[in-house]
Amino acid sequence: MPGDKSISHRALLFGALSLGTTRVAGLLESEDVINTARVVTALGAPATKTAAGVWEVEGRGIGGFHEPQAPLDFGNSGTGARLAMGVVAGQDFTVEMVGDASLSRRPMSRVLTPLQKMGLEVVTQDRQSLPLKLRGTTDLVPIEYELPVPSAQVKSAILIAGLQTSGTTTVIEAEATRDHTERMLRYFGADIKSALGTDGKTRISVTGGRQMQGRDVKVPADPSSAAFLAAAAVLVPGSDITVEGVLVNDTRTGFFLTLQEMGADLTYANPREEGGEPIADIRVRHSRLKGVRVPAERAPSMIDEYPILAVVAAFAEGETVMEGLAELKVKESDRLAATAAGLKANGLIAQIDGDTLTVVGGAGRAPGGGRVETHLDHRIAMSFLVMGLAAEAPVSVDDTAMIATSFPEFTSLLEGLGARFAEVSE
Ligand code: S3P
Repeated sequence: MPGDKSISHRALLFGALSLGTTRVAGLLESEDVINTARVVTALGAPATKTAAGVWEVEGRGIGGFHEPQAPLDFGNSGTGARLAMGVVAGQDFTVEMVGDASLSRRPMSRVLTPLQKMGLEVVTQDRQSLPLKLRGTTDLVPIEYELPVPSAQVKSAILIAGLQTSGTTTVIEAEATRDHTERMLRYFGADIKSALGTDGKTRISVTGGRQMQGRDVKVPADPSSAAFLAAAAVLVPGSDITVEGVLVNDTRTGFFLTLQEMGADLTYANPREEGGEPIADIRVRHSRLKGVRVPAERAPSMIDEYPILAVVAAFAEGETVMEGLAELKVKESDRLAATAAGLKANGLIAQIDGDTLTVVGGAGRAPGGGRVETHLDHRIAMSFLVMGLAAEAPVSVDDTAMIATSFPEFTSLLEGLGARFAEVSE
């Protein structure tokens, strides 16, 4: 299985912000991550591939970057763009950031607002999305900031900027989001602490002024990509697969927990730790499923997995109700709308009510036969291709190109398990 996307981006960025060489094994070599490798290189910290999945970053440390010669292109990646804003905030130069049509529609004010409080200047007036021109400063000021949305990208951008101040920056989160930034910054030697308060909120504080040291990072397999294989195994009769070395940090495993609650035969084996993150092998077998209610509190731990969960739910017995999906509307596409439309195109009943999605399951059967609009969204494409593995008629999607942004091996891995993909004419 390819490496985790969130951890791959962070390994490159934190390696660049450290002194010395960072060696990353198992880097996800997808378009999103390769764009981040190009960005750190353009900032003066060369990231180079030395073997399959092995990359080295020559870190420059805090204050060591230089002004890039051309706009920084993040392609489809919100994570790359938003985390890099935290890096750029601490640089005494101007940077232009661009992205594809999907990324250029996504909200950036959630990151810009706190970074502007710290001293970042948004040179492009009246714009809240890419393309943007930003000017950082070496006089960033620390802030205390409570996240208005549960977003690990916003949290991370502020903490990265905080590293480049001479005081303590604190981010307060009411709902736990993925904590890879906290874990990896600690591993690289940053002064960072997390504490759960009696109010149920977590306060994460980083104190700047200390250089980090480059480290070796081993990237575990991506649970958000493993989710597609797990779903395929659960849905296709006779399946029995094991996905090895998957990241099982509990800020990421909401989808696997939900599959288990639906009755899936999904078990963890060989739990171990690698590079400060818990990993395990996950075995999944074909199972009969029942619909469940997925509570809003679980959303941050499976935010990227709702499209594939909705596909799985289409085959369960009874209704699956997924609550608290507001953030799905601002992903690579409006995933709430795209998921519901894809299900309907395949003969299923799906209803959106505010931030809740309800899917009526077909008790093991789904008609299929539809053509799904993917809106430049890799996870919509992969989710509905998985639906085609188990539906009565094949399912087609309008575009598969975006799959390479996160999971270039998707079709070949599934073909290795017996799936067949065919190109269809318009
Ligand atoms: C990510 C955080 C999530 C997730 C994205 C990766 C990260 O986004 O959807 O795929 O690596 O921090 P938000 O922070 O916007 O929820």
